[in-house]
Amino acid sequence: MKTTLAALILCLVVLMASAFPFERKGASPSSAAAKEKHVQYAARDDVNILAHGLLQLGQNLKEHVDKTKGQMRDIFTKLKAFNRTTAELGKESQRQQVEGESLRAQARDLEDREGQLLNVTAELREKVEEMQQERRTMTERMSRLEERVDGMLQGPSSRNSSDARSIQLMLDSQNRRIDDLVERIRLQQEKLDKQNVRIRTLQSQIQQPGLRPSPRGSSSSGSTEGSAHSDAEEQRDSPLEMATDCHELFLRGETTSGVYPIQPTDSEPFDVFCEMTADGGWTVIQRRQDGSVDFDQLWQAYEKGFGSLNGEFWLGLENIHAIAKDGSYTLNIKFSDWGDDSASVCFPFELGGRETNYSLLIQEPGTTDALESSLTTDSALALPFSTRDQDNDRKGDINCAKHLSGGWWFSNCGRSNLNGRYFQSPPPKQRHQRKQAIFWKTWRGRYYPLKSSIMMIAPAAINKS
Ligand SMILES: *[C@@H]1O[C@H](CO)[C@@H](O)[C@H](O)[C@H]1NC(C)=O
Ligand SMILES: *[C@@H]1O[C@H](CO)[C@@H](O)[C@H](O)[C@H]1NC(C)=O
Ligand SMILES: *[C@@H]1O[C@H](CO)[C@@H](O)[C@H](O)[C@H]1NC(C)=O
Ligand SMILES: *[C@@H]1O[C@H](CO)[C@@H](O)[C@H](O)[C@H]1NC(C)=O
Repeated sequence: MKTTLAALILCLVVLMASAFPFERKGASPSSAAAKEKHVQYAARDDVNILAHGLLQLGQNLKEHVDKTKGQMRDIFTKLKAFNRTTAELGKESQRQQVEGESLRAQARDLEDREGQLLNVTAELREKVEEMQQERRTMTERMSRLEERVDGMLQGPSSRNSSDARSIQLMLDSQNRRIDDLVERIRLQQEKLDKQNVRIRTLQSQIQQPGLRPSPRGSSSSGSTEGSAHSDAEEQRDSPLEMATDCHELFLRGETTSGVYPIQPTDSEPFDVFCEMTADGGWTVIQRRQDGSVDFDQLWQAYEKGFGSLNGEFWLGLENIHAIAKDGSYTLNIKFSDWGDDSASVCFPFELGGRETNYSLLIQEPGTTDALESSLTTDSALALPFSTRDQDNDRKGDINCAKHLSGGWWFSNCGRSNLNGRYFQSPPPKQRHQRKQAIFWKTWRGRYYPLKSSIMMIAPAAINKS
């Protein structure tokens, strides 16, 4: 554009110079007067033409400028669009980079897990070999012993008292070794079971990262079971006998909390809610969380159980006894207050059958103000269960179950009742109402209605892991 303007100006100057040639030369005044007039006219024409040309040039120039402006606008728009595309491309490539990294991380994770699996398998094989070696040694020793006994029986001449004593000693020590070995094999078996679970978990993680087997759905129809189950899970379901409790389910590879059927020894099968943790499977026997179920029930209901396994429920004294009667079991209770603080107690317990009115025996932990002491039994005497229609408490003149509401192992009405009435927050102001609430004296005191509680049981061995 500048060059055009420069060219135009140059052109103008040339035209001006040629339009007034005589004036500048200053010719003789007398003879040239007429001629001068003519020249002046001619010059005026020239100026007109020139002006006209100028006008046109100016217009052309304006058009040119307008056109150029338009072109520049176009170019600018295109540039902007290009800029946008570039920015988008940049973002896209960044995103791809992030995705690529996460994929790589996943791959690394999988490799790690595979490594763990291999390690666990190797460990297992070693253990098994160790055990076989041990068995071989034992067999050798046994056969040597047998030889000696045979020799002794056959040769009456060699039968003397020192021989007999030494054989007696050997037998004793052998017996001890056998007991020891049996115990070690049992421990080893437990470990193997646990490792088996780990292997299964790892395998399922490798096969389908992110996907985990789910327990039976909350619907009680049970007809949909199996459709979504993987091969591994079918294998798990196929053992001839049903598991006797949640911990056995855990050892068989179930790691998801939920409702499962179990069948304790000498009992009918029934459904339970299993709380699966990293260490094992807890069978839940009681849950309070929202007041949706009335716990002010009679003896028969407390014996059979009531409520919904996915919500609030009491599993039933008969079922609890069926699960825990065979071995040493641990009772674990967790409760929370309205500030969402929580606490838990854990103790070994024994629960008698119907003939003892489901007497509970929990040994005193030592100090009487311990958190646990709200349920421990004062003496070696077990505490029978009480309901409003079957008063077995230790308080002569008062029926604690009726007075406080709900069924519980009441002694003097005052230490705990996790089956009391459920009060939303804020609780009633009157003490005579509040005392019927769910309470645990050694945690939040006698008159604090708790927000939730869960009671669950598992073989005592679960805590040794
Ligand atoms: C293009 O982007 C750069 C930096 O992102 C910016 O400086 C420039 O002004 C942009 N150009 C247009 C035409 O938007
Ligand atoms: C497997 O075991 C070896 C040695 O026992 C150890 O160095 C390695 O870190 C282990 N790998 C995993 C994934 O645990
Ligand atoms: C019993 O056997 C031991 C060695 O086996 C021998 O030293 C000892 O003399 C024997 N005693 C009798 C009473 O024969
Ligand atoms: C069980 O409870 C019933 C009713 O309260 C009572 O009659 C019976 O004596 C109790 N049995 C035992 C063993 O405590």
